[in-house]
Amino acid sequence: MVANPWDFKYICVRVGLPKSRPYVKCRGRYWVRWLQRPTRIPGLTTLLALGAVLSGCSTTQPQSYLDPKGPVAQMQYDLLNLSMWFAGAIGLVIAALTIYVVLRFRARPGQKGVPEQIHGSTKLEITWTLIPILILIIIGVPTVRAAWLQAAPADQANAMTIKATGYQWWFSFEYPDKKVTTANELWIPVGRPVIVQIESKDVIHSFWVPKLAGKMDMIPGRTNEMWLQADEAGEYYGQCAEFCGASHARMRFRVKAVTQAEFDAWIAARQKGAVQPAAGTREAAGKAILEGGKNGVTCFACHAIDGSEKAKGLVGPNLSNVGARTTIAAGVMDNTDEHMKQWIQNPQSVKPGAKMPPFEKQLTAEELDAVVAYLRSLK
Ligand code: CUA
Repeated sequence: MVANPWDFKYICVRVGLPKSRPYVKCRGRYWVRWLQRPTRIPGLTTLLALGAVLSGCSTTQPQSYLDPKGPVAQMQYDLLNLSMWFAGAIGLVIAALTIYVVLRFRARPGQKGVPEQIHGSTKLEITWTLIPILILIIIGVPTVRAAWLQAAPADQANAMTIKATGYQWWFSFEYPDKKVTTANELWIPVGRPVIVQIESKDVIHSFWVPKLAGKMDMIPGRTNEMWLQADEAGEYYGQCAEFCGASHARMRFRVKAVTQAEFDAWIAARQKGAVQPAAGTREAAGKAILEGGKNGVTCFACHAIDGSEKAKGLVGPNLSNVGARTTIAAGVMDNTDEHMKQWIQNPQSVKPGAKMPPFEKQLTAEELDAVVAYLRSLK
């Protein structure tokens, strides 16, 4: 007779226990031996390494929603946590019941036919109807409450409204009552609710600052609204969260949460218009080129610079304070002379599909230096 490897008597003998020992014990010892085989070591090491890597992507990352820094993100995190505990517990109970049933009712040697079948149990059916109802109520009440609180900030009087517009592949931010427009870096005062009116100029994007609030779609021809608030000063990463074309992954932004005084100073500086270069400087030469001083170089047609007579374009990001931003190309590169040059020479090398044409052929090295010097002086 061929031994059945799942036969409990055979297993007990194989692992060196008497046949009379309970099956689970023999099976347990079998698994311990299985794990101890030297060939398992590479597999187990890989699993452990994977676990270590996964635990590394937890809360310390700049784009982790597991590290909420504002009331909206906190609400969403708490809700997620609550649901996860229930989902985890339900998963465990089901796994345990499945294992129990498989072991308890498995076919045994010598058994013939199908075991006795039962049907209908009022007690059981009431139990497994009532428990889910109870769980749904426990999760449902805070869910509805959070949905309500997320619709609008409780502290309406203190709230500030801004407009965020998605473009392929960057963000425009407007402060309508302050008449200020900027791009890719959203300044907000700390501890104050900010209502964000969300639009798109081309395709569907999604506005997301993981540490401050969950996602909201940016839809052409429609204004969506959400709010967020930063409880700690600092820089928060934002990311487009809806696939929107070749450079979707490179459509990022930063939220700068600063004190109210710093925010007011920043707004006042923006309202004064862009810094004007002194006549005869390299910056002034760069400004002249950017404003159409050289054939084929048409920055002014797509970009606006507050206070400039010529640069009033609305196709690309507003550049009035581009020199003060920490990143360029919508959160993709640190703002340095070298990166700015690379971007102007060949934007596609940084952001495939970008609408800005390459200017490497139109600009001499000296002219490029002048344009970069001017842009970097806009602070
Ligand atoms: Cu915009 Cu993805």
